Amino acid sequence: MIILGLESSCDETAAAIIEVEDGGRLGDARILADTVWSQLEEHALYGGVVPELASRAHIRHIGAVLTETFKKGAIAPTQLDGVAVTQGPGLVGGLLVGLAVAKGIALAADIPLVGVHHMEGHLLSPFLAKTTAAPLDFPFVALLVSGGHTILLHVRGLQDYVFLGQTRDDAVGEAFDKGARLLGLGYPGGPAIEKAAGGGNRKAIPFPRIMLDKKRFDFSFSGLKTALKVQLQRQQGGELPDHDRADVAASYQEAIVDTLVFKAMAACHQCRCGRLLVAGGVGANQRLRERLAEEASGRIALYFPPMALCTDNAAMIALAGWGRLQRQPGVHWETLDARARWPIQEICRVEPSTMDPPFLSSRYWEC
Ligand code: KG4
Ligand code: ZN
Repeated sequence: MIILGLESSCDETAAAIIEVEDGGRLGDARILADTVWSQLEEHALYGGVVPELASRAHIRHIGAVLTETFKKGAIAPTQLDGVAVTQGPGLVGGLLVGLAVAKGIALAADIPLVGVHHMEGHLLSPFLAKTTAAPLDFPFVALLVSGGHTILLHVRGLQDYVFLGQTRDDAVGEAFDKGARLLGLGYPGGPAIEKAAGGGNRKAIPFPRIMLDKKRFDFSFSGLKTALKVQLQRQQGGELPDHDRADVAASYQEAIVDTLVFKAMAACHQCRCGRLLVAGGVGANQRLRERLAEEASGRIALYFPPMALCTDNAAMIALAGWGRLQRQPGVHWETLDARARWPIQEICRVEPSTMDPPFLSSRYWEC
């Protein structure tokens, strides 16, 4: 099967074509072409994604992105067997652009159309990585950390996802982005804070580790942002010399990383699972990787998709769409509507999950 994927839920306009042999498995998928147009520069001035600008940029770029993708893959629309498009969650203007284009192609080529949950794409993205090391296989725990989401799942198989927890307010990427703005650093905030934290003292400021005292796998980051604001007001109204800024950035980053690592390890422990996938933009953070490696220490195998697959792309959407088309027919174009808010629980089983008591008494309580 040859599947076209389209992604336009946030600030990347992306198209990709993948091929999976008949009867093939997830890991057999090959990327024939993959194009991502990043709108980073269009939003950098504002310190975050401006929805109106994003929608317009998607409209401007999607034609060129598609043309380039067909050209790179040496594939004509008539050779496609299906179209997968991000249906949500995300910015509604961008989603509508992707849906309109996907519907047009599916109608013209008379092929199945399928709407994909953006986070299912992230979840399956590592299966596209062609690595010589041991490839990822089910089951695994997934920590999905991006600008819009912070989610923990137990992934037992294709479309067999158990919801463990998610953020109750800001996403972890948002905590980095908003934190960077408060610190007067650039956008996107994650890499900026990571850079500023270099050489800083991680223990300089005892930022709170929110939700660590809860037995649930939920996260919360908005209080941490407030704590940073208060801290900066206390320290010379935010006008910090570089070495102080490095300390604040390092301490802030450490508070975020500690929370992620603790909950991810607790989830692996709870699910008796020896594999942990970390996907989404925040997965690029080196301190997070370092701390996870320390805690996993051979007991838990860690998987990070290559950077190009970690950030938003359409190959992962095509793969998730391929999976859906294996088990159900495509949807009628009239019924496919954008879902700006689409709780991940709707594609998961939700089981009451709380942490095991032994974990609660672990040394993490001291941080
Ligand atoms: O997954 P992604 O590329 O886009 C979506 O949000 O879907 O994630 C973007 C987020 C931004 O909030 C950015 O600040 C964060 O990922 N990020 C990082 C790093 N690189 C990107 N956060 C921490 N450390 C990084 N090195
Ligand atoms: Zn994403």
